[in-house]
Amino acid sequence: MIRKLACIGLLAAALPLLTVAANDKDVLDFTADELRRIMQHGPWPQSWSRDPSNRVSGKREAIDFGEHLFFENRLSGKGTLSCGSCHVPERDWSDGLQRGEGMQTVDRNTPNLVNVRYHRWYGWDGAADSLWSQSIRPSLNEKELASTPQNVAAIVRKDPELSCHYTRTYGKPPTEVKDDEALLVDVGKALAAFQETIVAARTAFDEFRDALERGDRSAAARYSMPAQRGLRIFIGKGNCVSCHNGPRFTNGEFHATGVSFFASKNRVDPGRHEGIRELKASRFNLLGPYNDDPTRATAVGTQHVELVQRNFGEFKVPSLRNAALTGPYMHNGQIGTLREVVRYYSELNVDRLHADGEQLLKPLKLSAQETDDLIVFVESLTDFRTNWKRSTGGEPSCR
Ligand code: HEC
Ligand code: HEC
Repeated sequence: MIRKLACIGLLAAALPLLTVAANDKDVLDFTADELRRIMQHGPWPQSWSRDPSNRVSGKREAIDFGEHLFFENRLSGKGTLSCGSCHVPERDWSDGLQRGEGMQTVDRNTPNLVNVRYHRWYGWDGAADSLWSQSIRPSLNEKELASTPQNVAAIVRKDPELSCHYTRTYGKPPTEVKDDEALLVDVGKALAAFQETIVAARTAFDEFRDALERGDRSAAARYSMPAQRGLRIFIGKGNCVSCHNGPRFTNGEFHATGVSFFASKNRVDPGRHEGIRELKASRFNLLGPYNDDPTRATAVGTQHVELVQRNFGEFKVPSLRNAALTGPYMHNGQIGTLREVVRYYSELNVDRLHADGEQLLKPLKLSAQETDDLIVFVESLTDFRTNWKRSTGGEPSCR
């Protein structure tokens, strides 16, 4: 009895402390407007439904086939590289390099592949309008895999394992598909089905957001004070949300941030400007013969996209989920760390801005503490598990 009382006494003594620690003091007083802005970054994961332009999207057999293809060196021109050479699972599906290294060095930084199923445009320039057409691009690009439809089709028809996977996925053997290009597109669609499964898990930020939504302040208080202050800058003074918004922290569109668009001394990377041209000219776009969506509703965006002068030097707004794992940063990998990215925005050179970057960006002149807080916030959007394993361990999985 005495012991029990003593316990209660202790508890009572500790309670005020606990309430303070897990209450107001550790959650900033966000205004109604700030709360509204925070809520629009979730919930996570976002809902998703299979891609109507790809008849094997979401199909188990296609996912297995795609995983196999993703790591298959023989599909490249010289038989030495695969998608997995640049999109390395242990490196958050990127490579850690400034610019991708394929058959040659490419002009751009390798983006990670987490959450690609949610994108609207693919590539830094949006030259592809579907995940499957983006998955065909590197095979044919001479700097990346430098392959040909003939090479890809011949290997899929001949190799027992790939041929078995193809038959399971598409319901007929690849030898029955006489057209090499059509077979290449089917390979792209299986690759897409596999990449649709790469989704980042929930993060410290998501726990915080959902706790605020439930009104659970003690759960919200687990999110560190620097992260909360950084969030306030992100949605407020920093105006980062005008481009990095929604559950993936990107509006999915293209903007100019003053990052140099010179690919080398004498050569420019026109970014979105060239991307639109390439998209319109591609046989693999959603307006073309390979879109499996009979309604063609998926092609509306592509039909309406128009080339305008301001697109020159614009690049896609990257998602900030997992950004802590994906340096170097920007389309050309010119910035090494998140700290340098934040400094870049803080000290922005306005003379370099054009298009709507002029209205949306200004030098933020952040203090040392604000800089640290913003970095802690961006880091809190990261899912730090990098333990993805090949489902078959690389062993043959179809005979
Ligand atoms: C040489 C390295 C390299 C190889 C090999 C490679 N990629 Fe990429 N990947 C890149 C680069 C660089 C980009 C950005 C391309 C651009 O903006 O033009 C990219 C972009 C992508 C994207 C778009 C991501 C986004 O955020 O828009 C997808 C999807 C993709 N690659 C899938 C693949 C698949 C599937 C393969 C194999 C068929 C592959 N990649 C092979 C380097 C590579
Ligand atoms: C005008 C739209 C816009 C605003 C505002 C903006 N960004 Fe960006 N952000 C971009 C674009 C576009 C890129 C890619 C630029 C490039 O590659 O040339 C980018 C790149 C980044 C990257 C690199 C990600 C990667 O994977 O390479 C980070 C980190 C980032 N922004 C954080 C921020 C933060 C923090 C703020 C607020 C201080 C901010 N951005 C404000 C459009 C914007």
